[in-house]
Amino acid sequence: MAAYPAEHSGDPFASLTGQVFRPARQRPVRMRGVTEADLPELHRLDREVFQEVAYPYFMLRQLFDMYADHLLVLDDGEALQGYVLAGIGDDSGLGWVLGLGVARARRGEGLGRRLMLEILGRLRNDGIREVRLTVDPTNAAAIALYKSSGFAPATAEGGLRRNYFGPGEHRLVLGLSL
Ligand SMILES: CC(C)(COP(=O)(O)OP(=O)(O)OC[C@H]1O[C@@H](n2cnc3c(N)ncnc32)[C@H](O)[C@@H]1OP(=O)(O)O)[C@@H](O)C(=O)NCCC(=O)NCCS
Repeated sequence: MAAYPAEHSGDPFASLTGQVFRPARQRPVRMRGVTEADLPELHRLDREVFQEVAYPYFMLRQLFDMYADHLLVLDDGEALQGYVLAGIGDDSGLGWVLGLGVARARRGEGLGRRLMLEILGRLRNDGIREVRLTVDPTNAAAIALYKSSGFAPATAEGGLRRNYFGPGEHRLVLGLSL
């Protein structure tokens, strides 16, 4: 998930530097909508990516119930290698990217950007006019991806919202007009 930061995982450097083990040949991935049958594998991937701040299964299940139309996965035929999740806010013109993650061994291949571009296109087609997301202020890789996708601080102080996710859990809130 990205409603909470991978950066708080037990291995923050691997998340932030992208230093990953990569076999010589990677299996091609296909982007597709999630199905109910994907939930156990999606939960495995979410725990791999976000570790102790991964969604509990019940939460993932309910997010699926609410947002399956905006939950895309990358499937290599054997395992899921990434996902993006978006939701529609109270104001029906506002969408939120709630989660974005790519398996560690598949980072740096452009998969995160593919997921982001696809979900933004779908939100635009759904009539969403503004998209927001939050990110840990120390998550250099994700921030670079978001800024190069056009996101900019959505609030004062460069988007920094202190204690946004509870005491000590600061977030940057970024936004993009579609
Ligand atoms: C953030 C994340 C989704 C990026 O996925 P990815 O597939 O590796 O990203 P891409 O290969 O598509 O790279 C897209 C852009 O992200 C940025 N980026 C990716 N890895 C980076 C790194 N290690 N350092 C700095 N910037 C990086 C670059 O701007 C890159 O564009 P470029 O290749 O043109 O330079 C991935 O690192 C991840 O899953 N991290 C853990 C989960 C997480 O933090 N999710 C976001 C929570 S808000």
